[in-house]
Amino acid sequence: MGDRKISVGLCGFGIVGQGVYDHLTRKRKLLGEQLGADIRVARVAVRDKSKKRDVEIDPSLITEDSLSVATDLEIDVVCELMGGTGLALEIVTRALVAGKIVVTANKALLCDHGKELLATAQEHGGHLLFEASVGGGIPVIKAIREGLIINDFSRIDGILNGTCNYILTRMANEGLSYQEILGEAKLLGYAEADESLDVDGIDAAHKAVVLAYLAYGKWTDLEEVRLDGITRVNQEDIRFAEDNGYAVKLIAFVERERQSKALYVSVLPVLVPKSSSLGSVDGVFNAISIHGDVVGETVYIGRGAGRHATSSAVISDIVDAVKLLIFGGPEGRFPFLDPAPKNGSELEIARPEEVHSRYYVRMRVDNRPGVMAEIASILASREVSLASVTQKEVGEDAERVSLIITTHMTTEKAIKETVNDLGNLDSVQGSPMTMPIRNFGEKSEDAWLES
Ligand code: NAP
Ligand code: HSE
Repeated sequence: MGDRKISVGLCGFGIVGQGVYDHLTRKRKLLGEQLGADIRVARVAVRDKSKKRDVEIDPSLITEDSLSVATDLEIDVVCELMGGTGLALEIVTRALVAGKIVVTANKALLCDHGKELLATAQEHGGHLLFEASVGGGIPVIKAIREGLIINDFSRIDGILNGTCNYILTRMANEGLSYQEILGEAKLLGYAEADESLDVDGIDAAHKAVVLAYLAYGKWTDLEEVRLDGITRVNQEDIRFAEDNGYAVKLIAFVERERQSKALYVSVLPVLVPKSSSLGSVDGVFNAISIHGDVVGETVYIGRGAGRHATSSAVISDIVDAVKLLIFGGPEGRFPFLDPAPKNGSELEIARPEEVHSRYYVRMRVDNRPGVMAEIASILASREVSLASVTQKEVGEDAERVSLIITTHMTTEKAIKETVNDLGNLDSVQGSPMTMPIRNFGEKSEDAWLES
């Protein structure tokens, strides 16, 4: 083992914190030989010391005073693995102000406060590392910051939430509803403490904001992300997808249009070809496809959530921190102080009339003459062209029936107005459910933004 002693403080000892402790402790000797440094978890902060843990730990290491861990002079690397944006913000800020290297898996914190936290790190000579915040165990942040450094990016498409992909996969394979599967995703350690962050698409949106920053240097407000979750996806959607060669996936898109400098960031349930690189990724796995001008497309697949995959990413940051501590200052090696030097200030969020896609619309309508004509007339008035209409045969006495239409290419503006008009019809019950259809690979349907 090396001579240099590195002390790590863990703030949070839940799903991720215990995994990090377990793997670091079990591989301490090996890592020591590889790095020439002895990495030791010196202190661990939790909310409730009396809670039973899955992983054995010396109780004297545990405290309920997480701020004292963040500012402890003996601690070199502080890992914030608690979640939330309250106390977590204070811990990360205090540790950075103390000049420490901070590792976090907290994408909500980065989305809301990434800009100021990176500035604080820069000001005080510390570093903020966040590999585990996107893609679970997939080293996608390292890929963008290091492996793809020479590239300008046109597009990043990704399945970024393991919980949702796990739920959608089991809905498709077993015909269950999302509520039935959510409990299992929680037990497996995939879901956030507040699971609405997962199923409402917010967690994936936090991650999309981080990716947009890394790729383009612009922090997007969460409100600017086109956002929908999976709570309205039902078996009719899943069956339609299957019957037509698609899969329903919650997909984040980050895309930049060069001519107009428009930036499009969305997280939506989307119909994608089952045979595409994202359509075939199932279960807790995440997949991220990145289009660079030099390299072309690269695709990264791996477990997007859970104790072990996430620990793998956190530990890679701890190892980077150790290298920074051993080999010296910010110039020592990646990551640079500012991981996204590209100036994104000139980018503007794409307007709905600039965003193009095909769409799927499902609605529940009255089973009576003239309804189809009313719907067709609304589509015509918004210049939205029908690609298909599907209605299962029902008896004459059925009051209502499900109607699914798909459209040819149109704009986000036109489909929003169309769906709004349809929802206002007396013959349509509630608000129609809409999803984009993305036929990856067909050039005309490859991009959201037109040049
Ligand atoms: P978790 O299982 O809920 O663990 C949270 C830990 O933080 C617990 O040990 C808890 O203490 C501690 N904690 C919470 N509030 C605290 C407070 N006010 N004071 C002191 N300690 C406090 O969460 P997790 O799944 O490990 O997630 C942690 C972070 O990693 C989150 O930001 C999450 O988004 C992110 N992340 C998670 C995954 C995943 O697959 N789970 C993947 C990537 C990123 P007690 O144990 O005493 O309650
Ligand atoms: N709840 C998150 C997910 C954890 O399911 O993807 C990983 O960030």
